[in-house]
Amino acid sequence: MENFTFHSPTKIIFGKNTEQQVGNETKRHATKVLLHYGGGSIKKSGLYERVIQSLQSAGVDFVELGGVQPNPRLSLVQQGIQQCRDEGVDFILAVGGGSVIDSSKAIALGVPYKGDVWDFFAGKAQPETSLPVGVILTIPAAGSEASDSCVITNEDGWLKRGYSSQENRPVFAIMNPELTFTLPPYQTACGAADIMAHVMERYFTNTPYVDYTDRLCEATLKTIIKHVPLVLLKSDNYDARAEIMWASTLAHNDLLSTGRTGDWACHQIEHELSGIYDVPHGAGLAVVFPAWMKYVYHHDLQRFTQFAVRVWNVEQDFFDQEKTALEGIRRMEAFFQSIGLPIRLEELGIPDDRLEEMARKCRKGADGTVGNFVKLTTEDVLSILKLAK
Ligand code: NZQ
Ligand code: ZN
Repeated sequence: MENFTFHSPTKIIFGKNTEQQVGNETKRHATKVLLHYGGGSIKKSGLYERVIQSLQSAGVDFVELGGVQPNPRLSLVQQGIQQCRDEGVDFILAVGGGSVIDSSKAIALGVPYKGDVWDFFAGKAQPETSLPVGVILTIPAAGSEASDSCVITNEDGWLKRGYSSQENRPVFAIMNPELTFTLPPYQTACGAADIMAHVMERYFTNTPYVDYTDRLCEATLKTIIKHVPLVLLKSDNYDARAEIMWASTLAHNDLLSTGRTGDWACHQIEHELSGIYDVPHGAGLAVVFPAWMKYVYHHDLQRFTQFAVRVWNVEQDFFDQEKTALEGIRRMEAFFQSIGLPIRLEELGIPDDRLEEMARKCRKGADGTVGNFVKLTTEDVLSILKLAK
């Protein structure tokens, strides 16, 4: 196990009707709030009204900015930064999913910064400070409600880039599983794939002696595999929605990566898909992950066998480890399909004429490679994209 510092300061307020606490909770941090939200799901569900009521009865002064699109755009972030400066806002309240939360985090980074907020995403600057962000979560998926990351798409070049920093962790996250009853099945499934991907990025590691976090990862994956089909059958299954919602936060608040180095190649590759083609991040991951696995499993057959046996209940073939490992990957693909997700680029509506461009643009580390479990070159990334066709 490696040395680590685990600091996950987000206060989690979980359960039925918890959104009613937003006014009082926000008041502890803010004099003036930007209420930030997406394309309208919160208005349709009535959540918007309840949030306004709670803010007003707590005496919280606020302005609002809606219209965050999935794969949130830099232009709206810049508009939000200007609005906050003009209005003297000192707190951002995100009501929505990963896109709204990330847009809020980027605004929070940008308000006190003198330069262009994209500098953080382009690796040109580090923030000295940021505004605090609070969250009411409406979709379990990205894990942004407690994560240190923020992912924004710059329309200039359609570059989707993440920026990670402790500054990005929200001060509170209100999580009422009832708020997720209105999620369409496809969105629920995309969220599931993202949650599973966050676990698998951490699971496939070269760090030895990480048995405890291996087991936490496996438990999180099994929780999603068990409960997602239940909510697809019955959208208002509170208990199953609650299991998924809590698992999604713990999948990405870094608990599962304590003492180990994760991979993250699939996320970097997927960001090119959703950056250029604007597909849901989770759907992109359901396509990229199986292809990545087929490309790298030889690197650690033992780990892939463990994954197959412990997560997918594959019976171990002691004479043919490879067969066991491949059966695990096959079952994962079958699971994604069973919940309505694509597993090939073609099903996602992505043609194969820009694969080289995506492989080239895919964000590389300082050594020019992608990922840690296996360090991938541009040619490797292209081979993975071709496997995903
Ligand atoms: O915009 P509205 O109208 O709210 O509709 C949203 C949106 O269309 C809808 N939705 C959300 N909650 C709903 C609902 N519809 C009905 N009922 C509800 N309760 O769902 C759609 C997708 O929302 P979005 O916020 O885009 O989903 P998600 O949470 O999957 O976020 C995806 C974004 O997060 C980034 C992704 O790259 C992507 O840009 N990620 C952020 C991470 C982080 N900050 O830690 C980590 C992830 O790996 C990921 O990269
Ligand atoms: Zn993700």
